[in-house]
This record gives sequence, C-alpha cells and structure tokens, in this order.
Amino acid sequence: MTQLLRADMGGIAQAAALLREGALVAFGTETVYGLGADATNDKAVAAIFAAKQRPRFNPVICHYACVDAALAHVIADSLARDLGAAFWPGPLTLVLPRKRESQVSLLASAGLDTLAVRVPAHDIALALLREAGRPVAAPSANLSGTVSPTTAKHVMGDLCGRIDAVLDSGPCTMGVESTVVDLSGRDPVLLRPGGTTVEAIEVVIGPLRSAGDTGGVLRSPGLLASHYAPRLQVRLEATAVEQDEALLAFGPPLAGAGAVFRLSDQADLTEAASRLFAGLRRLDSEAVALGLARIAVMSVPNHGLGRAINDRLRRAAEPRV
Ligand code: TXA
Ligand code: MG
Repeated sequence: MTQLLRADMGGIAQAAALLREGALVAFGTETVYGLGADATNDKAVAAIFAAKQRPRFNPVICHYACVDAALAHVIADSLARDLGAAFWPGPLTLVLPRKRESQVSLLASAGLDTLAVRVPAHDIALALLREAGRPVAAPSANLSGTVSPTTAKHVMGDLCGRIDAVLDSGPCTMGVESTVVDLSGRDPVLLRPGGTTVEAIEVVIGPLRSAGDTGGVLRSPGLLASHYAPRLQVRLEATAVEQDEALLAFGPPLAGAGAVFRLSDQADLTEAASRLFAGLRRLDSEAVALGLARIAVMSVPNHGLGRAINDRLRRAAEPRV
C-alpha cells in the first residue's frame, strides 16, 4: 500500500522517518514531484530504479537542504560555487565530479564518476530534507518514459502500490524539471533546459555549450529522444487543427479541435510551463476517451522557459522506441 501523507509537521516527520528507514517516498518540489530515497542507502536507491522501471544506466539527482551540503559530496570549482550562490535554492542541477569519500551510493551515479546535485526551492521539500538529515536521491516520480508528475494524484496514478508514501504538498508551481548543467568537463555544458533559464545562467558564468555540440557523446544518459510520451501521437507547430485532433493551445486556441487544453491564453511562458505536464496528461486521457487521433500543439517561442517547454514537447513527439 502507498500512504498519502499530508504535508503538515506530522506528515513531514513521518515521511522523513520513512526515508531514514530506507523506504521510497515521493515529495513535491517547485519543479515536479520527485521519488525520494536515502541516497546513502544502496538498497533504497536500487528500489527507485525498480519502482520506476528506470534503466540502471540513467543516474539520479541528489537533493540537499542547503548549498554547503549540496557541494560537500562533489568537487566544486568556482563556477559551481557561483551558480549555487546565484540559483540555489532553485530549479538548477549541477553535475560535478564525485568526491572519492562521498557516502552517496554509486548507484545514484549509475557508474559515472560524477554526481548531480540540487537544492529545491520548496519549503516542504526543504523541511523534509532537513529532517531526513541526509542526501535524498530523487528522479521524477513517474514511470520511466512517461510524462512527469506535477500533483500527488499524478504520482499515485503511476506508482500507487510500487512505493511506500507520497507527501502531498499540492501542485508544483514551476511545472518543468530543473535545468541540468554539466560542470565536470572543460567547458560548462547544458544537458537539459529547465526551470532556470539559459539566459540567466549565462549572465553568471558566460556561454553554455549545449549537449548536441559535444561531439555526439551522450553526456547525460537520461536524455533519450523519446520521453514524456503520452499514448497519442503528438504533432508540433500546428497552425490549423483537424476535428480528430486534440489541441494543446498556447495563446488564443485555434478553432475546430475535438478537445482543447489552454496552456496560457496570454501566451505567458511561466504559466504555460506550470500547466504543461498536467495538460499533456489531461488531453491524452480525454483524447483517448473521445477516440481522437493525435495531439496537435501550437508553437511556443524558444526563449526563456520556452526552451524547456519545447524540449519536453519535442521528446513527447518523438517516435517511441
Ligand atoms: O526538477 C528536477 O530535476 C526533478 C526534481 C524531482 O528534482 N528531478 C528530475 O530527475 O527531473 P530525473 O531523474 O527525471 O532527471 C534527471 C536528469 C536525467 O536526464 C539524468 O540522466 C540526468 O539528470 N543526470 C543525473 N545525474 C547525472 C550525472 N551524474 N551526469 C549526467 N546527467 C545526470
Ligand atoms: Mg524524469
């Protein structure tokens, strides 16, 4: 059975105790819900991979309650310290060389000599991390390859019966995952656009290369092309819509769709990001129920949070592997 815990003091204490015992506890952050486990417990980290059906080669992010704790397990250079100071707590993940003596399970690094770390900007998540008193490994709390969860209900839908508890802190405000920046090589590389914009990061550390420019080496094993996959096919850059299509609208919706989800009538990227995954889930189930053929998606500008939104949409539209 999966317990649903309220995010009051008692619920947070219970969730922290479960984590210390090696249980799997999903919890809300500002980005998406994470599936947490004691990062220093090999068995608990292994259980994350089993519950999510996540390939063992895909490493997970470690979450910490403060900047110093986050940088204690890795070799942090001045870029890492500058980015931590500028953006933590917040939706930024840094990939850094592991310290040899780190107690974090090697499974969290999935065989790499790096570790991904972040401090979430979410009071309940931070209270949980403080009370757990150890790093918490947490990938998004969904089955591998499906749309990330932004409510406790989404988590329950995917993982009920497979994990011990969900700490319900309400809907996630940001709605897309953290930006992942790899600082373990010669130049900083953007592995995944996310809640911290590239523009803001470049103000602090200068130009970021993108993962595509690194000579074809897959720097982030989790960046499989097909991901965030709804059951229906997804058609991008729609400028007209058919009756047998559901529409994910950005700005005023196109007319004629069989079902519509409005990301943001005012074409506001922050609002659209916060509604993206809920919209994909909602349209997918409505469209399947109505017998529609596809989800058509209106175009979203590719700056600021739009980069993260477009990255997720492109993956949702990829042919399934
Ligand atoms: O906002 C977020 O980042 C959420 C919340 C829960 O913190 N977490 C999340 O985790 O999205 P996940 O596992 O779904 O995505 C983490 C990404 C994956 O693409 C993974 O491959 C990459 O980060 N990653 C983790 N550790 C890495 C490492 N050592 N080197 C390179 N990439 C890494
Ligand atoms: Mg994920």
